[in-house]
Amino acid sequence: MNRNDTPPKPDKAPATFHVKSFGCQMNVYDGERMAEMLGERGMTPAAEGTDADLVILNTCHIREKAVDKVYSDIGRLRREDGTRPMIAVAGCVAQAEGREISRRARSVDIVVGPQAYHRLPDLIDKAGRGEEAVDTDMPLASKFGALPARTKQARPTAFLTIMEGCDKFCTYCVVPYTRGAEISRSWDAILDEAKALVEGGVREITLLGQNVNAWTGEDGKGRMQGMDGLVRELAKVNDLKRIRYTTSHPNDMSDGLIAAHGEVEKLMPFLHLPVQSGNDRILKAMNRSHSADSYLRIIERVREARPDIALSGDFIVGFPGETDAEFEDTLKIVEQVRYAQCYSFKYSPRPGTPAADMDGQIPAEVMDERLARLQALINQHQVAFNTAAIGRRTDILLERKGRHPGQLIGKTPWLQSVHVTAPDLAIGDMVEVDIVSAGPNSLAGEPSRRKAA
Ligand code: SAH
Ligand code: SF4
Ligand code: F3S
Repeated sequence: MNRNDTPPKPDKAPATFHVKSFGCQMNVYDGERMAEMLGERGMTPAAEGTDADLVILNTCHIREKAVDKVYSDIGRLRREDGTRPMIAVAGCVAQAEGREISRRARSVDIVVGPQAYHRLPDLIDKAGRGEEAVDTDMPLASKFGALPARTKQARPTAFLTIMEGCDKFCTYCVVPYTRGAEISRSWDAILDEAKALVEGGVREITLLGQNVNAWTGEDGKGRMQGMDGLVRELAKVNDLKRIRYTTSHPNDMSDGLIAAHGEVEKLMPFLHLPVQSGNDRILKAMNRSHSADSYLRIIERVREARPDIALSGDFIVGFPGETDAEFEDTLKIVEQVRYAQCYSFKYSPRPGTPAADMDGQIPAEVMDERLARLQALINQHQVAFNTAAIGRRTDILLERKGRHPGQLIGKTPWLQSVHVTAPDLAIGDMVEVDIVSAGPNSLAGEPSRRKAA
């Protein structure tokens, strides 16, 4: 079925692979699990896409731009000798577009959705035989049981998906369609995975879910627990030093979880709590099921429990029908909260979502202008937040090497990156530093005294 301009498929079973992830942290986590699974089967990772026998594009469907990027990437996977690697499209675009992808881009050999990637090995075999290899099932038995146990990690920080999917159906969002209904993983599965990660050297775990704080499950004694119970249990894992979670939904911010922020030392003082807009009419049209005020009250309570907590949020500008005055309300809520950092986006109409068919779609120039104003304000607060850290003594967990010799980069409890130059320290060390300077995106620190990791 190849068109003439499509280079032939590789005729041998792939021995090397490259995974490129385009999306959110859960998408990155899925990419890591795919890589671990292929590694377990004896395949080895390749540095560059075109060097690999198999390239997995682990895609994101959240905004149009993210999708366009995938198709341009597929086109670029041609080698100088005219051949190309075997190409798999995984992730949320795979789920949303299914076999349409291989119709639009003939060189795609495999299409595999985010709930079916444990079947990737079979799909690779199928594609090798020249058969159609498309799997966008959302099987009842979760993929997690079919994946190999976590292996030793290269970094001291790791993601751990504890729940998937979304039942909230915000009118602009594709996630409920690409990821399916909210499903929590079991208490034991999560604890086992956490312990395996810690045994493999991990010191900080970020619990993941599209609505991570909607997690529920039975504990070892058959009692129902929420995410706060899970966090308290994870805090008992000895060598685990730090716990984070993302993304949380305002409506799932339970009393127990708020209290845990004041009580569980290993739970880091950082909360990503998207509000999307500061205007109640827009929030209603978005089907957010919270108001600006109810959101602010949650923030207030979280700050009471943990006064130094750093806040982060997501914003959409130019939702259909958003007036200038309604946009001003978004600036107002940003002023009120003063976030440590934020993500902000221009509204992108997504096929199949209710908002895509709403009247009053906003012209691109208006969205550009609103986004620029919003980001300028957010940046101002971010700089202020970072500047306030100068002179502070704090622990950082060293995560990776910096650009300069002897330089390492770690994170504060408030998720700020800190550069330190300390040749005697190593990745994975927890060190106490004095913050000496601050920029918009990172801080510089000097070790105060060495702490046992
Ligand atoms: N479950 C999380 C967010 C998942 S998507 C939550 O509800 O908070 C991450 C962010 O992408 C969203 O918070 C939203 O700000 C943005 N987003 C989602 N759909 C979008 C769209 N159609 N256009 C622009 N931004 C969008
Ligand atoms: Fe999307 Fe809303 Fe679900 Fe978040 S809560 S994933 S924005 S539908
Ligand atoms: Fe994108 Fe899917 Fe995550 S659409 S944001 S990769 S859940």
